[in-house]
Amino acid sequence: MALAAQLPAQLSPQPAAGGGRGGRGAAAGPPAAFVRPPAYPERAPADPAVLERGKAIYGVQCNFCHGSDARGGEGGPNLLRSELVLNDDKGELIAPVVQNGRGEMPKISITREQISDVAAYIHSFKVGGYDVSRMVPLSILVGDAKAGEQTFKTMCASCHSVTGDLKGIASKITDPKALQNGWLMPGGGGGRGPGPGRGGSPFNVPPVTVTVSMANGKKSEGRLVRIDDFIVTLTDADGTQKTFRRDGDVPKVEIHDPLKAHKDLLPKYSDKDIHNLTSYLVTIK
Ligand code: HEC
Ligand code: HEC
Repeated sequence: MALAAQLPAQLSPQPAAGGGRGGRGAAAGPPAAFVRPPAYPERAPADPAVLERGKAIYGVQCNFCHGSDARGGEGGPNLLRSELVLNDDKGELIAPVVQNGRGEMPKISITREQISDVAAYIHSFKVGGYDVSRMVPLSILVGDAKAGEQTFKTMCASCHSVTGDLKGIASKITDPKALQNGWLMPGGGGGRGPGPGRGGSPFNVPPVTVTVSMANGKKSEGRLVRIDDFIVTLTDADGTQKTFRRDGDVPKVEIHDPLKAHKDLLPKYSDKDIHNLTSYLVTIK
């Protein structure tokens, strides 16, 4: 599978015992000048099958916030510098964060086994190879554009058209990685609220809006400013900010997230879908 071709560069530059992949990685490895002593003890290379599973899950569930190299910058923090990740062995410390969510990170429903696969994948990145991985061109265009066109028809065409709203998308966003993160989660993973998302998303995503219906039938609508168990604040079309006290279900509050469809789709993509779609979308110039 073409994906595996990306793995060796992340593995230890020493030939890995018992694996052909590690050997290839050594040949294509970074120039010696860039290799730094690792800040933490090297981990034994994981089973390639585990890494491949972990990579696939990471690509769908974690990538768009923590970055394809796990160094953050897309709305999530750098995981390789994380004390928690460094102290983690087989996912035992990562699992509670993933399964319960934390701060801006939503909880993600994957199994404990999948988490240990993801953990093995994250641990396969070299902490010391900091500058190197940034220099390696990202080979995410490993998909099949024709298959991607088909996937687009089934998963995206109900809302988008490559001759309509997405016309020329690859000319506007020329970096394939930005394009991929962009269609996976327009506006950036952690980004909330108005304007282009965090992580420098090139897309202008419409804001989350809210409708507040009072017991007497009066309704207020506008851009969601904040909401918690006790109040909801919105800015209406005139730019007036309004705050309502909440008491259980009164008033009724309906939130409209324009990206809900995208969030719902995230768990449905296979790694193949993602690569195929990106390979297709880069042809839409
Ligand atoms: C929607 C964005 C988003 C997604 C998706 C996401 N994360 Fe996070 N992640 C975050 C943010 C933001 C934080 C910081 C949370 C905080 O501490 O406030 C975080 C924190 C973490 C931490 C804790 C780091 C530390 O040092 O405390 C781990 C571990 C982690 N994420 C792993 C994952 C894994 C594994 C996945 C995929 C299965 C994932 N995350 C998916 C946004 C995300
Ligand atoms: C149920 C509707 C729906 C589906 C299905 C859907 N999207 Fe979206 N998409 C949206 C909405 C709403 C936005 C917010 C921006 C807008 O209104 O154009 C958006 C934004 C985008 C953007 C940013 C465009 C821009 O101009 O800001 C891209 C790229 C994108 N989607 C690609 C995709 C791809 C690829 C798929 C299929 C895998 C897909 N979408 C599936 C509704 C959908």
